[in-house]
Amino acid sequence: MKIVSLFSGAGGLDLGLKWAGHEIVWANDIFLDAAATYKANFGNHIDTRDIRDIPSSEIPNGDVVVGGFPCQGFSVANWGRSTDDPRNQLFREMVRVIRDKQPRYFVAENVKGLVSMGKGKVLEQITTEFSDAGYRVCRQVVNAADYGVPQMRMRLLILGVREDLGNEPSFPPLPSHSTPTKAKMLGLHPWLSVGEALAHLPEPEDGRHIPNHEYSLYKLRFNGHLGHRFIEPSRPAPTVTGRGDERGGVVVLHHPNNQRRMSARELAAVQSFPDGFVFSGPKSSAYRQIANAVPPLLGKAIGLMLAEAEFTCIALKSEAA
Ligand SMILES: C[S@@+](CC[C@H](N)C(=O)[O-])C[C@H]1O[C@@H](n2cnc3c(N)ncnc32)[C@H](O)[C@@H]1O
Repeated sequence: MKIVSLFSGAGGLDLGLKWAGHEIVWANDIFLDAAATYKANFGNHIDTRDIRDIPSSEIPNGDVVVGGFPCQGFSVANWGRSTDDPRNQLFREMVRVIRDKQPRYFVAENVKGLVSMGKGKVLEQITTEFSDAGYRVCRQVVNAADYGVPQMRMRLLILGVREDLGNEPSFPPLPSHSTPTKAKMLGLHPWLSVGEALAHLPEPEDGRHIPNHEYSLYKLRFNGHLGHRFIEPSRPAPTVTGRGDERGGVVVLHHPNNQRRMSARELAAVQSFPDGFVFSGPKSSAYRQIANAVPPLLGKAIGLMLAEAEFTCIALKSEAA
């Protein structure tokens, strides 16, 4: 299907959708380093204007509109989160594009914290606005580790199916991985550990040129806070976040050797980006682009779910005819 991608960032979600066989016809992001990354890995179809300045008439039609609208205003990781934060209003741009373009489906991704914000009222409001654009809306929190990503990353997925389509997609996407015990029982793969995911990468000092394989020298701490935890090599990594600390900058996870922080290349692998996906801009920017991304493997699962939904829809139509 043809995909219109909003808040595309470096293109984590888009890469997964492409892997699932879809075509991205238009993308948008104001973060210039992320857009440069996007261009280098996908092509020139990314527009870098503020979405608020782009009339819907300038956006091509697509079968699906996707977007991980900015989450800082919603995140539980952010102190003083507020329903009045202007960044929260950006989801309305996504609603506007969906209302005007009427794609068959839409998928929005966000942090799990959105579920509890304002005691659930914020998500209710968002759901109502998406429904009023003419869609049946389902919501579900998923763990990226269940889709082969070597990371515990809980994210909220919102799926919209245009009201006139008769099909009910199976939602959320079917997991391929689980805890070792459940995986055995259910015939799935066990979660991928961070140690396994990084085993193929040499130490950055090794001398081989590997793009983005540079790491933050920020000193290691082991106080249990995000970015300052002992990393257990045999388990999926904790969530990769773009969250900084009081000194600014992104706090990057420790490498599983617990002697240094991960390089941008390693952080990208923890997000399931392939090693050939190169990030533009300085190291701090690469870290941020990576942390902001939907893991491509989760994107692929979403893409396969959409493809299956569309096949069901076509089958229903031909049955009725
Ligand atoms: C959570 S990130 C999305 C990451 C992306 N889904 C991925 O998988 O790589 C949100 C993005 O929204 C972009 N953004 C924020 N405000 C915007 C605006 N007014 N217009 C366009 N993009 C905006 C940010 O630059 C950021 O890259």
